[in-house]
Amino acid sequence: MSDVTEPFDAIDVIRTKRDGGAVEERALRWMVDAYTRGYVADSQMAAFAMAVLLNGMERDEIRVLTDAMIASGERMSFRALGKRTVDKHSTGGVGDKITLPLAPLVAAFGVAVPQLSGRGLGHTGGTLDKLESIPGWRADLSNEELFAQLAEVGAVICAAGAGLAPADKKLYALRDVTGTVEAIPLIASSIMSKKIAEGTDALVLDVKFGGGAFMTDIDDARELARTMVALGTDSGVATTALLTDMNTPLGLAIGNANEVRESVEVLAGGGPSDVVELTVALAREMLALAGQPDADVEAALRDGRAMDTWRAMIRAQDGDPDAPMPAPRETHTVTADRDGVLAEQQALPFGIAAWRLGAGRARAQDPVQHAAGIDLHAKPGDRVTAGQPLFTLLADEPSRFERALAALDGAWRIADADTAAASGPLIRERITG
Ligand code: URA
Repeated sequence: MSDVTEPFDAIDVIRTKRDGGAVEERALRWMVDAYTRGYVADSQMAAFAMAVLLNGMERDEIRVLTDAMIASGERMSFRALGKRTVDKHSTGGVGDKITLPLAPLVAAFGVAVPQLSGRGLGHTGGTLDKLESIPGWRADLSNEELFAQLAEVGAVICAAGAGLAPADKKLYALRDVTGTVEAIPLIASSIMSKKIAEGTDALVLDVKFGGGAFMTDIDDARELARTMVALGTDSGVATTALLTDMNTPLGLAIGNANEVRESVEVLAGGGPSDVVELTVALAREMLALAGQPDADVEAALRDGRAMDTWRAMIRAQDGDPDAPMPAPRETHTVTADRDGVLAEQQALPFGIAAWRLGAGRARAQDPVQHAAGIDLHAKPGDRVTAGQPLFTLLADEPSRFERALAALDGAWRIADADTAAASGPLIRERITG
């Protein structure tokens, strides 16, 4: 029954979307607000989300939805800093530790990088989980601490406060249990509401496609990227997106402590070539949006400036950049059963295996085991010989190996050297506003 004190009725809004229509602005704003304050029920919002998944939304509806989610919480501003602020968001992948070297690298050029991040759920790892393997490091900062660190160090990676877009928090939890996560208008508005509310001047999006990504299909990833770039641009946030391949894990480390170690290698001027390539490409995009299109990004990795900023960033959050990292209690190495070329290494099974080893969590309240994960010893395209180590599973409990190995059944393939197909480039497309 409708309430005469409410200006709209959730059933009408649901019916409009169910029948393929566009919901008018005031009704959509009301729906989000009424859901946030508990007047619109979870069952009604779930029906609406399913109608959006099936029938989509017009560009203007997505803008209004995003705006309504921003309006549900606080809006931050970094104006008082007197520096340009640039943020990066990745839609998530396996071995994706890029934020760790990227934030200090960009900050080394005098740009402020407020990287408000989350913890991982499922097979894609969380940036905060990785950093929490550094002894003493603290993810939760007050707004005052965040500002002070941005002013002094330039880079901050910390937990996003609960005050940003609370409507999204509620809706995302509902989508998670109602099969409606995959709707492009809902993903785009969810990500962009938090980024716009955070108050960054500019944003670079790493939108992943492939077996280990949210969007397996490149066309869907492109549509998501275009939708998010349009939302950012319409809100005055200069936004660029790169479409990147997530069929194969990024780098050689999947987990938490081992991903920090690999990030430090990149900051020291080394590291796996794919991690370096993506870090440098994203840094160039961020610096171009901050008004420094000619910045020599590689030089800052070579000469230690990015490393100095990393060390200052870790110390500012009570971490010890020189402390020994957690080590796994148990390891299990898998070797090549023949000579040839590693032709395939599928990101999703490797992500699931790392998760089963204890590197990720199944429920938001679960702890992660910081030393757990997988170290890869070969990448697709590498020649291997029989008996050569392909990868090592890392865990605190040996009982975890069996289920991790089950996830990896059929996940890699060795082919004759002359039959292995070359994979495409890591960075496929660039999308600008
Ligand atoms: N990340 C988000 O923040 N929201 C989504 O809907 C998907 C990924």
